[in-house]
Amino acid sequence: MDQPKHHIFVCESFRMNGEPQGACNRQGAAQLPQSLDEEIVDRGIDAQVTTCGCLKVCDRGPAMVVYPEGWWYGNLDEDNLDTILDALEEGKCVPELMMS
Ligand code: FES
Repeated sequence: MDQPKHHIFVCESFRMNGEPQGACNRQGAAQLPQSLDEEIVDRGIDAQVTTCGCLKVCDRGPAMVVYPEGWWYGNLDEDNLDTILDALEEGKCVPELMMS
């Protein structure tokens, strides 16, 4: 099996009750993995998208992390996903969208 160059984990944590866990889903993360996956295929980026549970940065969600680089991004939306993928195509991160 060929391993992808990048593996992107997108928080899809959802809870009916309980703050702050589940914040990503409530803040619009539900559509992000599919959008991300479609863009990656369209652009031919060697990356795999996997949804995951809470990344423990709920107050900055929707959140994702790009491995192996360890680039953590928060407050995601469709627009900044495009910016992140533009940079990823060049092997770069987007510092202004990263969590510090
Ligand atoms: S719910 Fe997404 S980081 Fe916690």
